[in-house]
Order: sequence, then structure tokens, then C-alpha cells
Amino acid sequence: MPARHDSFYGRRKGKPLRPGQAERLTRLLPVLRIDTAQPPPDPFSALFAVPVTAIVLEIGFGGGERLVHEAAAAPQTGHIGIEVFEAGLAKAAAAIDKSGLANIRLYDGDAGPLLDWLPAGSIARIDLLYPDPWPKRRHWKRRFVNAANLQRIARVLEPGGTFRFASDIAAYVDWTLQHVRREPALIWTAETADDWRRPWPDWPGTRYEAKAIGEGRRPAYLTFRRTG
Ligand SMILES: C[S@@+](CC[C@H](N)C(=O)[O-])C[C@H]1O[C@@H](n2cnc3c(N)ncnc32)[C@H](O)[C@@H]1O
Repeated sequence: MPARHDSFYGRRKGKPLRPGQAERLTRLLPVLRIDTAQPPPDPFSALFAVPVTAIVLEIGFGGGERLVHEAAAAPQTGHIGIEVFEAGLAKAAAAIDKSGLANIRLYDGDAGPLLDWLPAGSIARIDLLYPDPWPKRRHWKRRFVNAANLQRIARVLEPGGTFRFASDIAAYVDWTLQHVRREPALIWTAETADDWRRPWPDWPGTRYEAKAIGEGRRPAYLTFRRTG
């Protein structure tokens, strides 16, 4: 298992939260957040207060709009959302509270340690949607997709589980395809030349995606499968 936890580069805080937002985050996060100081529950599905038949994970959920939408649409699936940006966490926590959904848990830190905490083969799908592209060459090493993180992703996916990646930055799409090619436990599922241009079924989009399309960029949607 990779030992170093160095997958987060970016901002944890922006403008100060409004008093109401800060109060809600302080009240709601302790209930929603996964405590990695404790061992994972056994059975792992007990992480959720409601019965779930599968567990999915989103890395860097932004404001959590898609996470909450999907958790409402799939109440028998447990959803784990990871985000480091405080305002995004506050927004997601408030939306989860308002919706009354009990099939969502959050992790307010770097995805690397959380991936290392998760039991092997415990997750049916991992989504990495519009990760920070770090376009400058000297920053490429900051990209979330790297050999260590792909190893982490492969370890926690169940056999046949999927890793979905979306980006509007062609260079990051190429980067991801090249890195996954070197990870034997993951294979790209594309069957036709156009597969990666089509969003996934029932795809609500993300906030970042809407902005990218509005600015004239065309997203790519890659699906990889865990072998074995
Ligand atoms: C460009 S935004 C995209 C947000 C959202 N997925 C969307 O499509 O609207 C990338 C997000 O990933 C988060 N992020 C970056 N590195 C991360 C890491 N190592 N662990 C958890 N979140 C991370 C950032 O804080 C940021 O909110």
C-alpha cells in the first residue's frame, strides 16, 4: 500500500464562511464525517445509518450538487463524498441536512488517506470529476491522477467495479489514459471511438462542467474497470 499522503495541493479555505454557514458546518460535519482514527466498521455497509447494497465514492465533489442528486436518486446505495474546500463542505452539509438523506457520509480531507483507510474491494464505483488540471508543466506532479493514487483506487474497487473520470482539459485526459495504461488492475472500457464523448446515463452534470461547456470546452468521460 502506498505510504505517502501527498495528493492534495490547492485551497482549503476561500472567503470566510457566513456565520450561518459556519454554524451549520460545525453542527453537521461531526455527524456526517468519517472518522479515520477508528477502524472501518464490519460489515463496512454499517458506515451508513440505513441499509445499503453498494457503496460509491466521489473525490473532490465541489459543492456536492451531483453527490446529493445521485444519493437521492439511489437511496439503496451508500455515497461517500470527499472534499477539502471548506465552502464546498458547508454547502454539501447543508443540502444533505435539508434533504434528510442518510445514505451519504463525508470526508473533509485529502482523498489519499481516506482511500488507504477503506477496506480493499469495498467500493463499487469511484468518480473523479473535473479534477484540478494543473496545466503548467512544473505542476503536473500535483495532478490527482498518478501511479500511487491509481493503485489506491484499484485496491479499494471491488472486482468489476468502475473508476469514472471526466475532464474538459484534453492534456489531462491524455495524461490519465497514459497513467491507467501502466496500472494493470484498471482497463479502459471504451468500445467505440466516440464513447468518451458521451456523458454517462442519467448524468446530471456538475457545476464545473456547466462552466466549462459555457466557455466552449468539450468534456471527455472515461470509464475504467477493475480487473479480476
Ligand atoms: C475543479 S474542482 C471540481 C469540483 C466538482 N467535481 C465539479 O465538477 O464541479 C476540483 C475539486 O477537487 C478538490 N480536490 C482537489 N484535490 C483533492 C484531494 N486530494 N482530495 C479531495 N478533494 C480534492 C478541490 O478542493 C476542488 O473542490
